[in-house]
Amino acid sequence: MLLVPLLALAPLVPTALAWGAAGHEIVATIAQVHLYPETKEALLHILPPEAKGHLAPIAAWADQVRMRWRNGAMHYVNGINDHPADHCEFGEDGWANEDVNVLTAIANFTGQVMNGKGDIPIRFLTHFVGDMHQPLHLTGRDKGGNGAMFLFEGRHRNLHSVWDSGILTKNIRELSNYTTPLPSKQIESALLGAIFDPYVRFILWEGMRGWWSNSIEGWLACPAGGDPYPHSSVSNIPAPDLWLNTVKGYTASALKLLPSPLSAFLAEMIPLQAVEGFSNDLLALHPTNVKASSRAPFPACPYTWAKPLHKLNCESAWPKEYTGSPGSPLIELDTDVYLGKLARDNTMEMLLAMGGVRLAHLLNTALSGKEGVYLAY
Ligand SMILES: *[C@@H]1O[C@H](CO)[C@@H](O)[C@H](O)[C@H]1NC(C)=O
Ligand SMILES: *[C@@H]1O[C@H](CO)[C@@H](O)[C@H](O)[C@H]1NC(C)=O
Repeated sequence: MLLVPLLALAPLVPTALAWGAAGHEIVATIAQVHLYPETKEALLHILPPEAKGHLAPIAAWADQVRMRWRNGAMHYVNGINDHPADHCEFGEDGWANEDVNVLTAIANFTGQVMNGKGDIPIRFLTHFVGDMHQPLHLTGRDKGGNGAMFLFEGRHRNLHSVWDSGILTKNIRELSNYTTPLPSKQIESALLGAIFDPYVRFILWEGMRGWWSNSIEGWLACPAGGDPYPHSSVSNIPAPDLWLNTVKGYTASALKLLPSPLSAFLAEMIPLQAVEGFSNDLLALHPTNVKASSRAPFPACPYTWAKPLHKLNCESAWPKEYTGSPGSPLIELDTDVYLGKLARDNTMEMLLAMGGVRLAHLLNTALSGKEGVYLAY
């Protein structure tokens, strides 16, 4: 029952900075279900023995080492001029944290896992894929909603914590079915006896097999030309083949600034010796340095994946009537127009499922060389 105490504590920590531990553990558990047997076997050897090959026990670790490892900026990305719900911008005007953010971190650690760098990159990747699927991690307004006060079930809560843990805890508490094992060893063997196990079964059994069964392939797709992450150091990047011809003219320092998704694409296209001053991170991503077993195309396109998630800030997360002006009465979020709509659309469940299958796809590609997810339940 390793996971229960964390969840029980979640409501006591209303200013938590990331998905509560439960959100991360649910994403990790959904990923676990979708790993190929070869990937699970690899994880048994890479993860610390007490994890027994499971991702959930390491999923919240990156929050615990936030200060020590100074990885704070990797948990979120803030587009300049983004102000939901009035105005949603996602990188069109640049970023407040352009080089190190949750998008570049995901590309970075995917490359490191592909490159056989072991346990720590897997911990970070598991965490940041989770963070990216919490829409408040994709906006800078009021520090991702940490400074935006609301009422939730009659209590004062900031918006970030409502999305990190408030809605999730309520959904888990109110679900009364799926308390007994499903007829699927693939699912049941990924569950560790956590308080959210019924919720995971519900998401998989009704969502993955039903509501979204035709969408899952699309969730994993990446643009053929690489992830079009807007980056001010390399402005007006048109089609990949076009800027490939111009890239040799860039200085070494500009190249170093290229974010990892683009770097990965670049590394595949340009012979290494053609570019002087390649950073080590870039070298690590070059296919000749990637283990023979994992020569699939670079599987992550965090910008492409995050862009529609960010839009949820304007569509559902920030009530239109919220002004943030001091003295205005607090808005209750546990209402039919707000929470009821999220429930009818299964928004929260979809975010957790998307995060889970994307993480599984990245780990499957990196550790077993097989793209996609194991969907045999
Ligand atoms: C990539 O990971 C290394 C740690 O392994 C870190 O020092 C670096 O800042 C990361 N870069 C990005 C863009 O996240
Ligand atoms: C389980 O509970 C959820 C939430 O109340 C409901 O939407 C779903 O239809 C139930 N499923 C079954 C099989 O009873």
